Order: sequence, then C-alpha cells, then structure tokens
Amino acid sequence: MERSEEMYAERVRSLAPADEPERQYYFIDVMKSVLAEKESRIGRKLTMNVVTFGCQMNAKDSETFSGILSAIGYEETDSEDADLVLYNTCTVRENANTRVYGRIGYLGNLKKKNPDKRIILCGCMMQEPQAVEKIRKSYRFVDVIFGTHNIYKLAELLFEREVGGELVIDVWDKATGIVEDLPRRNKYGFKAGINIMYGCNNFCSYCIVPYVRGRERSRSAADIVAEAEHLAENGVREVMLLGQNVNSYGKNTPDGITFAQLLHMVSKVDGIRRIRFMTPHPKDLSDELIEEIAANDKVCKHVHLPLQSGSTAVLKAMNRHYTKEQYLALVEKIKERIPGVAVTTDIIVGFPGETEEDFAETVDVVRKAGFMAAYTFLYSKRTGTPAAKMEGQVPDDVAGERFKRLLDAVGEVSAREAQVYEGSMADVLCEEYKAKEGLMTGRLDNNLLVHFPCDETLLGEIVRVELKTCKGFYYLGERCE
Ligand code: 5AD
Ligand code: SF4
Repeated sequence: MERSEEMYAERVRSLAPADEPERQYYFIDVMKSVLAEKESRIGRKLTMNVVTFGCQMNAKDSETFSGILSAIGYEETDSEDADLVLYNTCTVRENANTRVYGRIGYLGNLKKKNPDKRIILCGCMMQEPQAVEKIRKSYRFVDVIFGTHNIYKLAELLFEREVGGELVIDVWDKATGIVEDLPRRNKYGFKAGINIMYGCNNFCSYCIVPYVRGRERSRSAADIVAEAEHLAENGVREVMLLGQNVNSYGKNTPDGITFAQLLHMVSKVDGIRRIRFMTPHPKDLSDELIEEIAANDKVCKHVHLPLQSGSTAVLKAMNRHYTKEQYLALVEKIKERIPGVAVTTDIIVGFPGETEEDFAETVDVVRKAGFMAAYTFLYSKRTGTPAAKMEGQVPDDVAGERFKRLLDAVGEVSAREAQVYEGSMADVLCEEYKAKEGLMTGRLDNNLLVHFPCDETLLGEIVRVELKTCKGFYYLGERCE
C-alpha cells in the first residue's frame, strides 16, 4: 500500500464505530463512495451476482449479502460476468466442493477479461482449513474469503480488499454473537425465511454441519416476531422458520420459549398467512409441537422429518437417537393428529457398514411411512466426522445400485400419496409465473406443487385451485373463480 492510501485506510478504520451493526452501516457508506469513484472512472454501473449453494440457511444468508451489496450500490444481475461474484458455498457432501472448485476456475477466466472483477467466497466450505489452503495456493485471483460466523462483515472485508489490494481471509472458528438488523434483499417479496437459531449440537456421525456452523444459538423470540412483522408490512405472506434442529429452539435462551410457542407467536402477526419450518429432528419432536401444527390454521400441514436410515443399527452408528419403530410410531402419530399432513424426509444410502438387510429396512420405512417426497443422498465421506473413520465403507457400485432401487420405491410411494388429492380444491400460494406457457406454479399448504393457467398479477396471492390431474409429484389444475 502507498503511504497516503495507508493513512486513508487507517483514518477510515479509526472512525469506525465499535458496535454492530452500526459498524457495518459505516463501512457500507465508505464502500458506497469507493464504488461511486470506480463507476465514474470506468463510466458505467457496477454489477454483482450472488450464487447460493446448499440449503435454505445459505439462501437466507445470501439475501443478507444481496442486501449489503445493493446498499453499497451494486446492481444485481444473474450472470457470473458481473463485476463482483459471491459464492455462498456448501460442504455437506464432497461433490458440492468439487463443483465449487470447477466454477472458481471459470470465474478466474472471466477475471482475466475484467481485472477489476471481485471474487468473494464464503459459507460452510470456507470453514474447512484445507479448502482455504487449496484456494490460497491454486486460485490466487480470489479476493475475499470468509466463513459462516462473520457474514455480517461483508462490507468491511470488501473495504479491506480495496485498500489492501490483496486476498483478505477472515474465517472464525466460533460465533461471537448474533448481529441483527442488517440490510436484506428478499428474493421473492411474498415469502421469506427467518433464522430462528444457528448451529447444531447433534453431531450425527456423518455430518459436517456442527463443525462448520458451530454450536446451537437461538435468537430471541422478540427479535423473530419483530422480523416477521417487518416482513409482513413489506408484503410477505409466508415465512419459513429456519434452524438445523428447530426442536432445540429456546433451550439456550433466557426466556425459555419453546418452538411450539414461537410458532404460535409468529402466527399472531397480521398479514402472515402461512408459516413453514425446517428442520425438526425425530428424536425430540414434542406433542406440544404436533398439537400446535394441528390447531393452528396458519401453520402449514407439512412436516419434513429426516429419516436418514430405516435400520436401527445404522441409526445408532449415525448417532441419531431413535429406532426404526420409534420413527414409524412418530409418523403415525403425526398423521393421526394432523389430518391431511404431508410427511417428507431425507435419506442417506451407503452409510459405512450398511448391509443389504439394513437397506431393506430403509425401503420398508419408505413404504410404511408413506412419504409425500424424499430427498435421497449417497453417503459422502466428510473428513473430520466420526463416520469417515468407520469400518465397512460401502463400495460405490453397491451404494449406487441401492440408490436406484430407493428412488424407485420413493417415486412409487410419493405418487400414491399425492394421488389422493385428485379432483379436490386447494388454496395455493402463487409462487412463480412462466409467461411463455401462461402458467402459474402454486404451492399447497402441504407443499405439493400445482401448475395452472392464470395471469401474472396473481403472483404472491393465495387462490383456490382445482387439482385436476396428478402427475406424480405435482398437479395440473384450474383456478376456481
Ligand atoms: N453424506 C450424504 N448426505 C448427507 N447429509 C448430511 N451429511 C451427509 C453426508 N455426509 C444429508 C442428510 C441431511 C441433508 C441435509 O443432507 O440427509 O438431512
Ligand atoms: Fe447434521 Fe444431524 Fe445437525 Fe442435521 S441434526 S445438521 S444431520 S448433525
């Protein structure tokens, strides 16, 4: 850094407020002028593109990134040709990482044509020291790397990159607290995610999340309700409450409000018509929660309940704390108490030690539980997790073949579950419009999709639709006037 630049940077830092989020609003303002100066130098507006990998939590964080970057003055585009590209990464399975490396290489080529391009990498994969090391060595054109615990610092880190002229790495191994009230750019307008807690304490033996997202921290119910109110005032009708294990909500907050009570509080917010949540853990899903879902009209009749395996022996090795029978009894109870509920799930195939008999137990649960949908995954070995060191890693061809059989079973069962609604009427939230076909895609309370002819103005509205033809996991329908 030149001496005068160093003095400028020092002065900017010394005037920065110590408290958050004020500090970040200050750096947003600083970056606004940096950007304006760049734009007048090159004679055009600068653009940004935020790319999300992985789960709903990442999608939610990406709204904060888009919010911060828009507040700085970047215009959002959907092309990686943009002047700033941010990858919000996932590392839950190895192939997520492989994909990201390939795409970073591609960004490097784009940067050769636009040397002012900024490449930002953040999210779960960046919490892994090997990944950061590899990027530092092999992808030297990257500009900023940060992890999951300091996402609120984006503006400050961008500033450090601008004044320092080289790669900025800021990855924390622990969270310090929860920073509220950052800018946010809501992707849909009518639906939005709300984080209710961060991190996970479960340590399922295959899972890397507890290592990259840290220990459980719940937000206060008052902050969550205030966020829901603010969203509702801005036109949001459906909120999804997000956490790695929502049943643990409130276990580490002073007010001790349970997740079921929180659902109730959010449902009192005027303007919110639908509430979804993700993800409960079968080991501690309470009767109180089941009763709240059943009794509360605003809570969607959909429970996503990750099974992972149907074999009690494998579940034990996975550290899941329930048996096949307990899982099935729980699904039965949910279906009995919540009429019309859809149960969906996640399943892993090829966990170390999984035998043909274990796999047959999984298929058995799929048939007995009657899932409306199941997300199926091939087991992926994650370095640092206990399962990575377990004996009996299943060969790829064996796992692949089981995976195909599982897909067949899931397809059959979910088509059967979806079929029962044929000919009935349902309220759907209009979520996406395809102008070419003149078709709206709406979602039922139970998460099923329906496509029906209608005009674009109804986007974001809840309308009544007749479910005419079942096409497996979705419907073709007609709007009832
Ligand atoms: N391999 C395969 N699937 C995994 N999941 C989590 N970790 C792994 C892994 N190592 C799946 C689980 C979880 C979902 C989000 O991802 O099924 O519920
Ligand atoms: Fe991973 Fe298990 Fe936590 Fe889910 S509950 S994030 S699978 S450790």
